[in-house]
Amino acid sequence: MKRSGAGTLGVDDIGRQVKLQGWVHRRRDHGGVTFLNVRDRSGIVQVVVRPEDAPAASDALAPARNEWVIEVEGVVAARAAEAINPKMATGEIEVVASRGSVLSPSAPLPFNVDGEVDASEETRLRYRYLDLRRKDLYRNLVLRHEVTFDVLEYFHQRDFIHVETPILTRSTPEGARDYLVPSRVHKGSFYALPQSPQLFKQICMVAGLERYVQIARCFRDEDLRADRQPEFTQVDVEMSFVDEEDVFELIEGLFVSVFAGRGIEIEQPFPRLTYAEAMARYGSDKPDLRFGLEIQELGGGLAASEFRAFSGALADGGVVRGFRLPGAAGASRKQVDGWGKLARRHGAAGVLTLRRRESETVFQVKNVLGDDELTFLVDALELTPGDLALIAAGPERTVATALGALRVAAAGELELIPKDRWDFLWVTEFPLVEWHEDDERYYAVNHPFTAPDPRDVDRLADDPASVRSRGYDVVLNGLELGGGSIRIHDRAMQQSCFELLGISAAEAEERFGFLLEALQFGAPPHGGIALGLDRIVMLLAGADSLRDVIAFPKTTSATDLMTEAPSRVESGQLEELGVVLAVEPED
Ligand code: AMO
Repeated sequence: MKRSGAGTLGVDDIGRQVKLQGWVHRRRDHGGVTFLNVRDRSGIVQVVVRPEDAPAASDALAPARNEWVIEVEGVVAARAAEAINPKMATGEIEVVASRGSVLSPSAPLPFNVDGEVDASEETRLRYRYLDLRRKDLYRNLVLRHEVTFDVLEYFHQRDFIHVETPILTRSTPEGARDYLVPSRVHKGSFYALPQSPQLFKQICMVAGLERYVQIARCFRDEDLRADRQPEFTQVDVEMSFVDEEDVFELIEGLFVSVFAGRGIEIEQPFPRLTYAEAMARYGSDKPDLRFGLEIQELGGGLAASEFRAFSGALADGGVVRGFRLPGAAGASRKQVDGWGKLARRHGAAGVLTLRRRESETVFQVKNVLGDDELTFLVDALELTPGDLALIAAGPERTVATALGALRVAAAGELELIPKDRWDFLWVTEFPLVEWHEDDERYYAVNHPFTAPDPRDVDRLADDPASVRSRGYDVVLNGLELGGGSIRIHDRAMQQSCFELLGISAAEAEERFGFLLEALQFGAPPHGGIALGLDRIVMLLAGADSLRDVIAFPKTTSATDLMTEAPSRVESGQLEELGVVLAVEPED
């Protein structure tokens, strides 16, 4: 007899003889009768074992406890009216067992896989296969599979070719450390695991593929957070003969179609903000547009202020900015202290409050602002009675990022973030490079293969920090979902950009010689993007961490608690690779 899915049975099956194979989800013994909820991936159904009708099945299933794997044959029967369970999809029926056996017993469980989570994250990751039996995690994996399938279908329909690029390769600079793999054949040489397939996809364009896509595994040894894993998956895309508009249209269409598949309607076109606008108005290059709380420029009315924290910052070339928190005039001392701490963590001197009450406006520091200055602030911040404003002064970048962080934190605390909103946007016109004080050199904001904006190219040599790039990010609800750019396809321009980044001609030749060479052989203009598949699925699943949408994720210290990777290796293996450890292995 063929196996039936436990969750697929219903009233239409009444009277049918069926065979179930699955896990004991719950067992109850009641008046000599055993009730076994049998679970498989399709769902759960109740099995009744009556010793008088099926003595052999009853004996065989007597030892079966939670999570034992069993096989049962029986007839689907209607439940008595009082036994119907409306909370269960199969609650109107049950399977009356005629035969039964244990296929595989289970040791006592380290935690409950049904209902509330009752174990630490560590224990759950160590027994990941048990945690994956939970409905929520299983559903996330199915969602991930379906999204991946839809994404590939979308690109397939549009003539893209899925190409697998190497995992054992050489370093591509995406700003993180590489994972290295020693070569046995070429002792002393290492492969790097790809931080992204960036150079290969560009080479695919030189090869004439025109439209490339890959569900690509990427590896980055960087500080981990809830939205970062050391290995993750990109939807990696590259196209020839395109400009920004072509990429935007393609990717907006992809999101519209993938989200529609989950019953979510997305509006097109996505709004766009330049990097400069995003930083000034939201203090972030990945602004969350689900709520307002826009940051206002306040310097205009405060340059002559007797309050030095304001006028001094402005005189030093800095800014005074703030934003309104509607209805928050009653914020507690503790809340305000918390905001101050957060501002300091982002490098600001602190944050000051301005409370608009019915009869007066109260600035946190008494007697330092004149009436006209208070009136200016109330107008500029559009404060109405009951509102509070948070204001910071200092260097532009510091103030912007501190207020950006406060904006998100306060919106969360005051519950100003609406649920079920999907606010996409493009952030464009990133700076091409930024100066790093510590090692006194420029770094690419995107990566070194991003084309400079032709409008700014003449400043490349003299004022590189003012040059905009043709890079863009797609952001959803404050999370960067993807980034890309129109690339450099001209060898001379690529070489000048390497020089600007302090990469000498010799070093460029050594690290990227193959790219420079390829650019000489008829490289078409091209551009693309990579989207974080894990992040997309995380948002669609309503999960808080990438761990909830990756089958076998790593901890924040980049370990896999189930296999205990990374691990020590036999000394013979190291010898064969020509590797000698300079440190004692850590436990
Ligand atoms: P970028 O570095 O912006 O661009 O990466 C693209 C997207 O990948 C996701 N992502 C991550 N997801 C989980 N864990 C991580 N550690 C992690 N790092 C990045 C993000 C991010 O937006 N080669 C370029 C793309 C291009 O120019 O076409 C690149 O890799 O969602």
